[in-house]
Order: sequence, then structure tokens, then C-alpha cells
Amino acid sequence: MPALTDAPFLRAARGEEVPHTPVWFMRQAGRSLPEYLKVREGVSMLDSCMRPDLVTEITLQPVRRYGVDAAIFFSDIVLPLKAIGVDLDIVAGIGPVVDKPVRTLADVAAIPDLTPEHVPFITEAVRSLVGELGATPLIGFAGAPFTVASYLVEGGPSKEHARTKALMFGAPDVWDALMRKIAGISAAYLQVQVAAGASAVQLFDSWAGAVTRADYERSVLPYSASVLSAITSVPRIHFGVGTGEILDLMGQAGAEVVGVDWRVPLAEGVRRVQGRVVQGNLDPTLVFAPTEVMLARADEVLAAGRAAPGHIFNLGHGVIPSTDPDQLKRLTDHVHEASAR
Ligand code: CP3
Repeated sequence: MPALTDAPFLRAARGEEVPHTPVWFMRQAGRSLPEYLKVREGVSMLDSCMRPDLVTEITLQPVRRYGVDAAIFFSDIVLPLKAIGVDLDIVAGIGPVVDKPVRTLADVAAIPDLTPEHVPFITEAVRSLVGELGATPLIGFAGAPFTVASYLVEGGPSKEHARTKALMFGAPDVWDALMRKIAGISAAYLQVQVAAGASAVQLFDSWAGAVTRADYERSVLPYSASVLSAITSVPRIHFGVGTGEILDLMGQAGAEVVGVDWRVPLAEGVRRVQGRVVQGNLDPTLVFAPTEVMLARADEVLAAGRAAPGHIFNLGHGVIPSTDPDQLKRLTDHVHEASAR
């Protein structure tokens, strides 16, 4: 039986030699899988996240189907907010919607801190999964303060993040209180997952690419760094979308691994994060191209990844729901075969 600590995903995250380049996919569980749609029938997204039996099954589905090198815990970045009593829902086809947006110091003060007692179902689901997964690592995750703040301040998904950035520009005291509050919640939520057996964590700052370098450095990075610094026992991955201009700064926030979106050529991403392990970054729409085109592009990503101290193959953002799972299976097998040492 191979040891979990020697799993290729964890070896790559630590910058060690690997038998093949490890691969997993952001949003590998979920709507692209018929077996997911089946078990989710009649159960709301948030309810499913609070049921350890469903979380275990849904998390394992892509591992069984693709043979990927890691599982990602099935949950959502707003789940910890729901667990501490923030009135929100995940609306199908829209995303997280918050009943009463957070815009004042009093609004922030009304949000409790997260303790393990708020999320016993997370501890139970992680333990159950770690037992089932054996030598396959489980990645825990949380939302980074900026991205979670955007949902809280806007009250729902946003393209411009205008109210969020207006708060950041115009009310630095409220911004600081809110970002500290979320940083504490995300750190505590990651600690629960690691204590229950998660082998690595990913901090999702999906919308951090919306701010300038200067604003990122001053008003976003310190809070993400504080979340990352709360986790010291397992490898950390730090990811965002549209982050080309801030990739070097993201690399300084403390994570061992930096996720690169597909807009930045991976060779350039490797240069920008200077000495860090990289994760990424095949354009998620390439699965809709002919298989040989997708695989040729995957070869380019693999070649660029060799310049980094370690490379974890992934898409440049999540699996698109209309993706054909058979393409992801071919991609997984190809990454394993083409990168075998
Ligand atoms: O397989 C995995 O990656 C694990 C599951 C996962 C979900 N959300 C499940 C989910 C993860 C890692 C997330 C994180 C998340 N949630 C992020 C960061 C990652 C990213 O994509 O950038 C963000 C920004 C969110 C907020 C959110 N939740 C969005 C934008 C949506 C999609 C809205 C839609 O319907 O298109 C959700 C809902 C959500 N989270 C779904 C899933 C499977 C779809 C809801 C459903 O299946 O009913």
C-alpha cells in the first residue's frame, strides 16, 4: 500500500521528485458529472454540503471516474458563513446570494467568529473521506477574504465588485474589520479541515484579479497572508483568476504553491512566482476542442511546468458544467502517461 505522504500530489507540492506530474481539476466534482446530478436530485446545494454522506460520495465521484491525484472537499466558500448564521443561499445558476449585505461596522460586528462547534458535519465528512481515500490526498479549501467579502458586500455575484471596492477605497476602518473577520473565519475553517485529516489546503481568491497591484498589496494581501499563516502543517495553494499582474505578490502571501490561470503562459507564471511550485493552467474551454488539440496544449503546459521546482497540472479555472467527462478522463490519462519519469 503506497503511503499518503508519498502521494505524487504532495511530493510535487513540496518540490520533490515525482513519478509523474500529478493532476486534479478545480470543480472536478459537480454538474459536469451525471452521477452528481443524480445524487443531488431534490437536495439543495447548501443542504448537500451539510450532509457528510453526500459530501463523501460527491467528493469521491471524480476520483473514481478519472483517477486524479487528489480529491477536493465538496463544499462552497460561503458554507462557513451559513454555518455561523449569516442568512444566505446558493441559488442555482446564479451563485451565493446574501439576504442582508454587509456595509457598516455594526454589520461586521454582528458576524460571529467560527468555532469547530459550528461545523461538526465538516469534521465528520473529512474524517469519512480520509478513510475512504487511503493514499489519495484530500484538499481542504476556504475562500480568501477579498472574494468572500465581495459576496457579503454586494449581496450576490458581481462582475465589477464596485460596492466592495468602494468600501475598500472609502471606508478603510470598515474594510479592515470585515477583512479581519473573514480572515479569522477562513483560517478557523481550514484548521477544522486539517485537524480532521485534510492533506493540503487551497485558498480561493477567485476575484482578486479585480484590484490594482497597489490596492492588492495594501488592502488584500495582508489578510490572505494571515489566513495562510494559520496553516503550518500541510502544503498550501493560493489561487485566483485574472491575477497575471499580481501573481508575484500572491506568491509572497505564504503559500508553497501558486495557482496560475490560463491567461498567463505557464512559463511566464513560473518566472513571476520565483521559486514557488505552480499549479495550472490549461484553458478550461480546451476540453471542447478536438481531443488531439487539447492534448497537444496539455503537452505545452507540462513542458512549461518543468521549469518550476514542482508542477501540479490543473485547468486555469474550474471545470465548465457542460464539459464532457470523457475528455477529462483522456486528459488525466494523458498527463500521467506523457509525464511519466
Ligand atoms: O469540485 C470542487 O471544486 C469542489 C466544490 C466547490 C464548489 N464551490 C461547489 C459548488 C468549490 C471548491 C467551490 C468554491 C467556490 N464557490 C468559489 C471559488 C472557486 C471558483 O470557482 O473560483 C467561488 C467563487 C464560489 C461561489 C459560487 N458557488 C459560485 C460562483 C457558484 C456557481 C453558480 C452557478 O450556479 O453557476 C457556486 C455554487 C456551486 N458551488 C456549485 C457547486 C457544485 C453549483 C451549484 C449546484 O450544483 O447546484
